Amino acid sequence: MRKIYLMATAAFWVLVGGLWLAGLSAPETLADSGAPVKKDYSLAEVATHASPGDCWMAIHGKVYDVTAYLPDHPSRPDVIEVWCGREASAAYDTKTRGRRHSEAADRMLEGYFIGDLK
Ligand code: HEM
Repeated sequence: MRKIYLMATAAFWVLVGGLWLAGLSAPETLADSGAPVKKDYSLAEVATHASPGDCWMAIHGKVYDVTAYLPDHPSRPDVIEVWCGREASAAYDTKTRGRRHSEAADRMLEGYFIGDLK
């Protein structure tokens, strides 16, 4: 019985030690984890993502990759798609109809942030 207890205790500490070592070698930064690193983009760079299948927008000094959101946007597709690859602050602020987007839309937009505009 005592032998089983000792073996279980040893196995437990081997497991704890293993997890600790795994933690030491785990990636600690976004860059190490392979996630996209936030960086600055020029408007020229934004302009190279100007299609519905690859759609970046610059809005108030920030750059957003809204490609994944386009199919869900509630307007007619062409209303938003013409802003792909462009500085779209005014369009976003007015929905091109003099009406602001809701705060829920603002929060949603932040989810597509990829970097600042240079
Ligand atoms: C920059 C170009 C854009 C234009 C011209 C535009 C225009 C519009 C229009 C016409 C509507 C429907 C009518 C209305 O609700 O008043 C709308 C609704 C909406 N848009 Fe956009 N949109 C743009 C970008 C975006 C982006 C980038 C997001 C989020 C990632 C977004 C999120 C929403 C949401 C959530 C609604 C529902 C109503 C609201 O919450 O305000 N839009 N937009």
